[in-house]
Amino acid sequence: MEHADTRTLADFVNHAGPDLLEKAGPFAEYIGGLQSRGEYSYHRTLVSGAGGTVRVLDPRTGGERELISLAANNYLGLAGRPELVEAACAAIRRYGPGLCGSRFLSGTYDLVQQLERELAEFEGYEEVAVFTTGYQANVGVLAALLRRGDLAVIDRLSHASIVDGCRVAGCQMRPFQHNDPADLDQILARHGGECRNVLVVVEGVFSMDGDICPLPEIMEVAARHGAYLMLDDAHATGVLGGHGAGTADHFGLTRKPDILVGTFSKTLAGTGGYVAASHEIVNYVRHYGRSYMFSASPAPGTVAAVLAALRLLRAEPDLRRQLMQNVDFIYQGLKQAGFHTYPDPPESAIITIRIGEDAVVHAMSRDLYEGGLLTSTVVYPAVSPNEGRMRLSLSAAHTEDILRQAIEVIVATGRRHGIV
Ligand SMILES: Cc1ncc(COP(=O)(O)O)c(C=O)c1O
Repeated sequence: MEHADTRTLADFVNHAGPDLLEKAGPFAEYIGGLQSRGEYSYHRTLVSGAGGTVRVLDPRTGGERELISLAANNYLGLAGRPELVEAACAAIRRYGPGLCGSRFLSGTYDLVQQLERELAEFEGYEEVAVFTTGYQANVGVLAALLRRGDLAVIDRLSHASIVDGCRVAGCQMRPFQHNDPADLDQILARHGGECRNVLVVVEGVFSMDGDICPLPEIMEVAARHGAYLMLDDAHATGVLGGHGAGTADHFGLTRKPDILVGTFSKTLAGTGGYVAASHEIVNYVRHYGRSYMFSASPAPGTVAAVLAALRLLRAEPDLRRQLMQNVDFIYQGLKQAGFHTYPDPPESAIITIRIGEDAVVHAMSRDLYEGGLLTSTVVYPAVSPNEGRMRLSLSAAHTEDILRQAIEVIVATGRRHGIV
């Protein structure tokens, strides 16, 4: 199938002309082209909450449409639970919509401290600091701890918030091959000695592909080189491990990474993030993490809902089993139809279909939308240009009937674009 415009977002990062704002013009024209062909799959207007299906406003008709959602990271389906809504409403009644201040000044309240205590107990760390977003948690902890002369060795596919945290810190940053302890070993052997402090950073479940990091091997390599280890478990919390506590729980590790970062924006069905570590590290981050100190604290309604979500996650292990059953159902359906999904077999709640050219991914997402499906269009800058993929996020909220319909639409679209 011919694709109208093979440019990617990477083509508009720089502009040869002298005018700072000039690049916005050609970019608007590129986005306008995608929109006119129905291929712009971002900023869709939802008129319902996250669930197995969602309602969106259709830009062409102006009316509402119901779509199957494989786009939200609502892994255990907690976003739709009335317990969260009740908890949020009660907290808003008591504290109001916001505390109008940062954690540091007027934004620390008993509910957020309660959440910190319960998270610390759940994750098995001495202390937790709650941030307003997971992005800020990564930037805050990295920029608080690392300085010029320090080295961060990060997985090549690290999330933008990890890269940005290292940039703000001003430390040296060296990527190692994705999920490759041998490459990490070589980089630490070559460069570890040149720097004062070395921090290795990995994700438990990689956000774009859903594959699990070989944490025991990575920990062994880091320890052998005297490096510290930080784990971002954004997509593992509530999904991996016998207790749903994430990647260390999955591998049954008794020793934990030195620092753990988590988010509320996936399984815990809210917004916010956290850093778990020893009391000394968390205390330091609370006083040097600028994204913690210079940003308003998370809203009471959100904090109360996340607390309710954490308690449900712990009380209802069947949700995790349902999620994994759903992952397997869609994987088997796609495999039987001839799709190569990644990882194969799936390792978490995320399954990807690797496509390649960003233009093809845009065209496919239009056809999936036409077929009644909302998926994540993953192109640059989330991944390298023309390494585009479709990301499917499964949820315990999906029914077998929904998943059957989803498979049908994906198979028909894949065939049309020669992906199968
Ligand atoms: C691996 C990873 N880390 C951090 C974040 C940031 O989390 P939040 O959405 O809470 O800002 C995300 C979310 O996209 C993520 O996927």
